[in-house]
Amino acid sequence: MTSVSPAPASSASASLQNASDIVLEARGITKCFGALTVLHGIDLALKAGEVVSIIGPSGSGKSTFIRCMNMLEKPDAGEILFRNRRVGEKYRGSGDLLGQGELRRHVGMVFQHFNLFPHMSVLENVIEGPVIVQRKPRAEAVEIAMDYIAKVGLAEKRDARPDQLSGGQKQRVAIARALAMQPDALLLDEVTSALDPELVGEVLGVVRDLANQGMTMVIVTHEISFAADVSDRVVFMENGRIVAQGSPDAILRRPDNERLKAFLARFHG
Ligand SMILES: Nc1ncnc2c1ncn2[C@@H]1O[C@H](COP(=O)(O)OP(=O)(O)O)[C@@H](O)[C@H]1O
Ligand SMILES: [Mg+2]
Repeated sequence: MTSVSPAPASSASASLQNASDIVLEARGITKCFGALTVLHGIDLALKAGEVVSIIGPSGSGKSTFIRCMNMLEKPDAGEILFRNRRVGEKYRGSGDLLGQGELRRHVGMVFQHFNLFPHMSVLENVIEGPVIVQRKPRAEAVEIAMDYIAKVGLAEKRDARPDQLSGGQKQRVAIARALAMQPDALLLDEVTSALDPELVGEVLGVVRDLANQGMTMVIVTHEISFAADVSDRVVFMENGRIVAQGSPDAILRRPDNERLKAFLARFHG
């Protein structure tokens, strides 16, 4: 498979030292569903070029949190900042605020269940965002789309419909579709969880290429050894809180938190 080049980020420097390199930041994110509080004030700052993996038990709030990061889910408290601009409803005179639509043009998301348009070809799925949202001329959108479709190894499938593809191929199309928007950051929510085991590797390979090429990403995953390989930082969530975070080595190979140890033991057993 050929490698995947993400769009050059507007801040090409991948220095992880400088606060101004923060692409996407969550501050004090709290989320309730009815009487149930599922996120209790989560803070996370994602730097340019950084890959952060989020692990944790089912129901701990990982999906809700990652959805809050691009405002698919509206937090009850706290705020999301994109390149230091607060995301919110735009009112007249609130020029500092970034609208939610604008946020989503910069922050792509890939889901467990692909969410491709079933009646459209691979190519039509991938050009949809550039043509409809970014209003690019169709010829230009096709050129960009074919570049990413080729890079996820599916050039010969450009005219196929999703039901003619394997799960792994569908997920690679979903990744190409997100990349075609040339996002500054990508959020991946368990992108291999719905796949047959033999198809997981081809999708992780695409994500690994993105990581190696400097794409800024948050990856929710149960693939612990993959997280250990590609992440700059691993975050362990439980019951709507970040319980531990640090380097893959500290979190995955030398965990010192009892609940984290118990969680990881299930993957080594
Ligand atoms: N739309 C929703 N309405 C009500 N409860 C929800 C909704 N989405 C998630 N939840 C609940 O929020 C909690 C966290 O869910 P989720 O973020 O999906 O966790 P994870 O991704 O870690 O498995 C769970 O208790 C789940 O049942
Ligand atoms: Mg989830």
